[in-house]
Amino acid sequence: MKKVVLITGAATGLGRATVLQLAKEPYNIAVVDFNEVEGQKTVEMAKELGAEAIFIKADVSNEDDVKNYVAQTIEAFGKIDVFFNNAGLMVPFRLIHEYDVNEYDRIMNVNVKGAFFGVKYVIPHMLENGGGTIVNTVSSNSYKPTAYNGVYSMTKHAVNALTKSIGQDYQDKNIFAVGVAPNNMLTNISANAAVTMNEEIGKAIYVTTPPNIAATPEEVTAAMLFAMNNSKMLNGSTINCAGGQIYN
Ligand SMILES: NC(=O)c1ccc[n+]([C@@H]2O[C@H](COP(=O)([O-])OP(=O)(O)OC[C@H]3O[C@@H](n4cnc5c(N)ncnc54)[C@H](O)[C@@H]3O)[C@@H](O)[C@H]2O)c1
Repeated sequence: MKKVVLITGAATGLGRATVLQLAKEPYNIAVVDFNEVEGQKTVEMAKELGAEAIFIKADVSNEDDVKNYVAQTIEAFGKIDVFFNNAGLMVPFRLIHEYDVNEYDRIMNVNVKGAFFGVKYVIPHMLENGGGTIVNTVSSNSYKPTAYNGVYSMTKHAVNALTKSIGQDYQDKNIFAVGVAPNNMLTNISANAAVTMNEEIGKAIYVTTPPNIAATPEEVTAAMLFAMNNSKMLNGSTINCAGGQIYN
């Protein structure tokens, strides 16, 4: 029986690249995103590569949407073997005291509550199914914040903690979690953050970002698949796709 993979934030960027890598293998893939147009395109591209794939529209910060994407995946494919908890966003670059509560709530709701909801509603099925693997997309900002990106960094520290906690809670239940931490990955996620960019912010980000090598999302999929295939050994830890930024 084919393994079933559920992946959020798969309309673009790392999520889509991961789907297209998985599509070359015998997986059934549920693609979740709130961007319906690009999400459907990801599914079409996966099908062209021979995969069985479905699109489920969901806002990961909405609890009913999360219950629905889990239920629809089970209905279509019968189980969930691997959950890529990948959806995320950034908010405009600011100093911490400059963020208003709406921006704080928005990013916390998507990056932290969304990741929690995913795990909360996927794990009961993994328990019924005898186990499973969870791969959380975290960030180099889970280790060290870049300037003017403090609230995003808070969210990614939280998802790193979620990964570690799953690693503690389910060791005897055959459910394992691994984090993958891209560093400077070439996607459009920062377009929304860059609306406040100016010379001062640019300089501060530059001096707080050690020299690093940018990666394409396609390159980072190697870490996503390694995490998926080695989750027992890596349980509770994060693969740091450092690109030269070394944290110990
Ligand atoms: N690009 C980088 O440099 C970088 C670095 C470290 C970590 N990351 C993380 O990688 C993950 C993927 O981001 P990406 O860089 O591929 O960017 P991206 O913007 O291409 O992908 C993010 C996806 O998440 C979806 N999404 C956002 N909010 C959502 C919501 N509420 N409900 C459903 N879907 C939602 C978007 O529509 C998009 O398809 C994110 O968790 C991000 O924080 C990115």
